[in-house]
Amino acid sequence: MLRVPARRLLACTGSRTVSLPQDSGPRHYCSCPLGARDQVPDGRAYFTTPIFYVNAAPHIGHLYSALLADALCRHRLLRVPGAAATRFSTGTDEHGLKIQQAAAAMGLAPAELCDRVSAQFQQLFQEAGIASTDFIRTTEGRHRVAVQHFWEVLRTRGLLYKGLYEGWYCASDECFLPEAKVTRQQGPAGEACPVSLESGHPVSWTREENYIFRLSQFREPLLRWLRDDPHAISPETFHNMVLQWLEEELPDLSVSRRSSQLHWGIPVPGDNSQTIYVWLDALVNYLTVIGYPDATFKSWWPATSHVIGKDILKFHAIYWPALLMGAGMSPPRRIYVHSHWTVCGQKMSKSLGNVVDPRTCLDRYTVDGFRYFLLRQGVPNWDCDYYDEKVVKLLDSELADALGGLLNRCTAKRINPFGIYPAFSPACFPSQPGAVGPSVRAQAEDYALVRAVSSLPKQVADYYDNFQIYKALEAVSSCVRQTNGFVQRHAPWKLTWERPADAPWLGTVLHVAMECLRVFGTLLQPVTPTLADTLLSRLGVSATERGLGDLSFLSRFHGHPCPFEGRRLGPETGLLFPRLDQSRAWVVKAHRT
Ligand code: MSP
Repeated sequence: MLRVPARRLLACTGSRTVSLPQDSGPRHYCSCPLGARDQVPDGRAYFTTPIFYVNAAPHIGHLYSALLADALCRHRLLRVPGAAATRFSTGTDEHGLKIQQAAAAMGLAPAELCDRVSAQFQQLFQEAGIASTDFIRTTEGRHRVAVQHFWEVLRTRGLLYKGLYEGWYCASDECFLPEAKVTRQQGPAGEACPVSLESGHPVSWTREENYIFRLSQFREPLLRWLRDDPHAISPETFHNMVLQWLEEELPDLSVSRRSSQLHWGIPVPGDNSQTIYVWLDALVNYLTVIGYPDATFKSWWPATSHVIGKDILKFHAIYWPALLMGAGMSPPRRIYVHSHWTVCGQKMSKSLGNVVDPRTCLDRYTVDGFRYFLLRQGVPNWDCDYYDEKVVKLLDSELADALGGLLNRCTAKRINPFGIYPAFSPACFPSQPGAVGPSVRAQAEDYALVRAVSSLPKQVADYYDNFQIYKALEAVSSCVRQTNGFVQRHAPWKLTWERPADAPWLGTVLHVAMECLRVFGTLLQPVTPTLADTLLSRLGVSATERGLGDLSFLSRFHGHPCPFEGRRLGPETGLLFPRLDQSRAWVVKAHRT
């Protein structure tokens, strides 16, 4: 038996002991995972959300994770039409001690709890318009096959060994903790209870023989991966955080639990006395979805973008890439990390009773309204605070007043009696700023508007690439404000179609504003799909004219024909987004009861 020196153990996982077999050297250590990065054919993209624990009902933080992935995926579809090239998976994480204990506490069989809560996630996601192509449950047979196959690959590559694990385990977080990450909190009877320093969840001392993964051997390859690819993890702060973690020693990782302790999981192949660690089980879901172990999975891996919360960064940015490298695969292409939602300044938790139910929010603020709120206000780098008044204020000002008002101003019967997309007059709005002529009416600010909206799609795409969806929405909102300024400046309601001197300019003002609206509607599709559909339909833009490739903003200004000019508008459907503030009293009351 080989004994790892205590000093090293303390530096790695804290107080734990690992005993190694004599021939513990790895036999087939990972096959160059970095140089030969797999090439996925025809520009495919695979987006994932984390899979959600089923110990409790979904809350707004879970919905936020899913919405970020949904918006990224929908934006990509606007750029690269053809659903065949894009895949988007979500699902539920159903094994492990956490679920086993939650089911026991509720007096339910674990499978019953899983069915119940998994259905709640599926229903929420369906209602919230999460357009996933796959929903995986880790209790499915196909997943068991994938996990056990993956395990066997690691084993045959000499990356698993049996050793004695001794240390802290946090069932709520499903992770092993070093002593330095454990603190004491006073229990109900005044006793000192050990808890995780980070999450505050209780931890318990564990001493058992487990299978252990040679994680320590992947420190260098992981560092190389992250140094070679500075965009692997976004935002940059999280990339740097992982690099910093890797500067420290990386201990081997216990990847199984005794079945007598943990029966709710996938058994280790060939050893029923051990159950596979829930994080190894859970992470492999990303492969199960794309058909692993069948070779077809290679047409999707590693074209993967994982969206995750900051609390599960270590699992995705260290354990998962190391496991993949160990199995001879490449790490995922991108890991997008977001921070958390707090509620009225406090961490959301069942014990504090402040968990915000996303379904109530969808009912109250509409699906598109709530999607817009979470994605507009959620900033991946920092935690964001939720309270009802903030939602009302944002939606009233940006969706109801600014965007809805703008659409109304251009399409209302009073101003647009023929219900058409009016003609643009180059004589009123020449492409050269400063041009003179009897009909010229455009001013310097109008050219600034044209420039701003022309560059908006590229700006938005760059923000999506950098996982800054909130900035994309901020940019759209700023252009909406600028367009309202344009309309206000030229007060089309003071012009009349009957006066020949007014008519071309009136048409031009409406045409420009509608062209801007067409761009906004197109760009808002990933975030507010139904609202964008209403907006684009009202403008007469057909379903086949809504991709980013079809934009050609203000083509008449550039001397090209505009397919929309003279087109009939779609039927009126009322207000684009009714103001919410009338119901504010009700919101506050409902919140208090
Ligand atoms: N089951 C694991 C993930 C396994 S992925 C292979 C898990 N599940 S979870 O249900 O606890 O969390 C799922 C996601 O929700 C995580 O990305 C987590 O960060 C996110 N959120 C949980 N609480 C959150 C907030 N309060 N705010 C925002 N997101 C939060 O971890």
